[in-house]
Amino acid sequence: MSHNSFGHLFRFTTWGESHGPAIGCVVDGCPPLIPLTEADIQGFMDKRKPGQNRFTTQRREPDEVKILSGVMVDEDGVQKTTGTPISLYVENTDQRSKDYSEIKDRYRPGHADYTYDAKYGIRDYRGGGRSSARETAMRVAAGAVARKIIPNVTIRAALVQMGPHKIDRNNWDWAEVDNNPFFCPDAKMAAFYADYLDGIRKAGSSVGAVIEVVAEGVPAGLGAPLYGKLDQDIASALMSINAVKAVEIGNGFDAASLTGEENADEMRAGNARPLFLSNHAGGILGGISSGEPIVARFAVKPTSSILTTRQSVTRQGDEVDVMTKGRHDPCVGIRAVPVGEAMMACVLADHFLRHRGQVG
Ligand SMILES: Cc1cc2nc3c(=O)[nH]c(=O)nc-3n(C[C@H](O)[C@H](O)[C@H](O)COP(=O)(O)O)c2cc1C
Repeated sequence: MSHNSFGHLFRFTTWGESHGPAIGCVVDGCPPLIPLTEADIQGFMDKRKPGQNRFTTQRREPDEVKILSGVMVDEDGVQKTTGTPISLYVENTDQRSKDYSEIKDRYRPGHADYTYDAKYGIRDYRGGGRSSARETAMRVAAGAVARKIIPNVTIRAALVQMGPHKIDRNNWDWAEVDNNPFFCPDAKMAAFYADYLDGIRKAGSSVGAVIEVVAEGVPAGLGAPLYGKLDQDIASALMSINAVKAVEIGNGFDAASLTGEENADEMRAGNARPLFLSNHAGGILGGISSGEPIVARFAVKPTSSILTTRQSVTRQGDEVDVMTKGRHDPCVGIRAVPVGEAMMACVLADHFLRHRGQVG
């Protein structure tokens, strides 16, 4: 199976399966002499890890990250990157393959089972093998390293819609995001989501979500006008996350219904750079960052593994009904929030190094 790597100058490769002994990644291209410890990574891992509340899967994995290579303690006792590949891993400690034995030969509708089998001729039914979102834990680890390369950039994400229910953007408060189990910036809506998702969960069903990722402090100039567009790479990075079905930058699809006057981000003279009077472009013009906040949104589909019976077929082509037991998130969009932040960090670190490589 090829295509396990992401990025150019800042590049990571992930390895491992949901039900193997461990999963890991190798981060290549991180510059030397950046202070880096496991504690710098663990906080982000903890945001993504399962089993933290009743709204996420009850799989209990501590997801304790270990650094195997690429760092050294200097004469002042500070552990720093050496510029060599950084190998990271976490153990899988709570896999229950027997939960999946009933779907050994059955394809879960809406999951990757059929296409994975059609391509590779092997059915890793134990949680979906490489198509399991367990892999996203290592994206979060790589993202924590990426953040160290661009320390002046603040990358935050929030859940802004669950099912058809959008937040009230007037209530947006970043401080709320870590105060509720949904990473929701609207406290009132978070309270509503608690009841709403309880109903979905008790019915054995699932629901989708929209996540907004914002990167502030990105200097003007990252990206390239043609095949290395910053928005192109962000879209690809977010779309590569499991269950993501759409990505928008700035106004996104809504831009199509605006006039040129409405959509133009007018400029006045500023101090170090122009002052933009709006940010419909989401911080990127012509594939290059403008210095305004980069704003991206992605839509996550409802979890396909649900407790209600759906029609499907077996590997042998027989028609069957499938109900997926095991432990699943009723809204995978919640745990996708830190993953979206991590992918944004990896793209920006990669483009920061590429920018420096081209213009010095
Ligand atoms: C953080 C996260 C956790 C997920 N957990 C589950 C899960 O418990 N059960 C499930 O069926 N899908 C889960 N998914 C989604 C599947 O991994 C995904 O739908 C599947 O790989 C098929 O890929 P696709 O939806 O991109 O087509 C999760 C996705 C994310 C981002």
